[in-house]
Amino acid sequence: MPYHSPVLLERSIELLKIDAHGSYADLTFGGGGHSRAILAQLGTEGHLYCFDRDIEAFTNLPQDSRIVPVHANYAHFARWLRYLNAPLLDGVILDLGVSSHHLDADTRGFSYRFDAPLDMRMNQQGNVTASMLLASYEERELAELFQTYGELRNANKLAHAIVEERKVTPLISTGQLAALVERVYGRGGHLPKILACVFQTLRIEVNAELESLERLLQQLPEFIKIGGRVVVLAYHSLEDKLVKNYFRTGRSSGVAERDLFGNTVAPFALLSKGVERACEEEQIENSRSRSARLRVGERVGSLKKGCINESL
Ligand SMILES: C[S@@+](CC[C@H](N)C(=O)[O-])C[C@H]1O[C@@H](n2cnc3c(N)ncnc32)[C@H](O)[C@@H]1O
Repeated sequence: MPYHSPVLLERSIELLKIDAHGSYADLTFGGGGHSRAILAQLGTEGHLYCFDRDIEAFTNLPQDSRIVPVHANYAHFARWLRYLNAPLLDGVILDLGVSSHHLDADTRGFSYRFDAPLDMRMNQQGNVTASMLLASYEERELAELFQTYGELRNANKLAHAIVEERKVTPLISTGQLAALVERVYGRGGHLPKILACVFQTLRIEVNAELESLERLLQQLPEFIKIGGRVVVLAYHSLEDKLVKNYFRTGRSSGVAERDLFGNTVAPFALLSKGVERACEEEQIENSRSRSARLRVGERVGSLKKGCINESL
């Protein structure tokens, strides 16, 4: 089974506008599909910083002296680039979330398709597993999570069922959780979608995915050349919203900082107005691409207003 099939590969690399002499960062290396495409256009003196918080991703590293591997959460981007004495970057790519490898692993707890420990940590040295989260969060916190990240109906009912269940027996396996979800929502044709939402919700929380993204976005401007690009592939509306808001306003909240004259002060301009999606053919071939939303920000000088509508 392939580690991961990259989504929107050609388009995302085209949007990076690779300079053969430049330096780039792939902050979500995974199976290395995007990285290999960048390397194919990079000259011998180029650099590619490859981050991943999951050590297993680095089994895919090509033997290539232009690569600098970084086993870390990209939330620590600035610290690492300073430590490595990296030059200003020409571009960064982020392909968010988990890889197919995570979902296909029958031991790591990301998928309800296998009975496995309820783990879900991308970084296996992380402190909190999904099982620990289900054991410790209050009912109200669980309901809020399932409501906001999973957009689940009856989130309160699910949270209540979890709290009742854990009084009797700790929730330690994906099979136990899947059975509980089935008891709450019934066995209809909607069950796989609900299970996917429940598992996705827990995974996002276990790995603090939105917090990491927010922290990273704030660190980017200092390390990217004027004219450099940040290409982001998001798979969840909340992460896409953070990215869109940040490129538009300089803040992931979407509330713009303004100068004395009322102009928006933001380090990036969002290239093109809408979001780009995978074409029908790719969506059929690679189901993961169906929820992909691609956005590009370009590092601009001091002031930025609205959105650049150039032909890309
Ligand atoms: C969708 S996959 C990337 C696939 C890759 N573009 C390819 O072509 O194979 C996302 C990868 O990013 C990693 N990842 C997710 N969040 C991360 C974070 N905050 N810091 C570092 N790596 C992260 C995951 O471990 C996973 O390997």
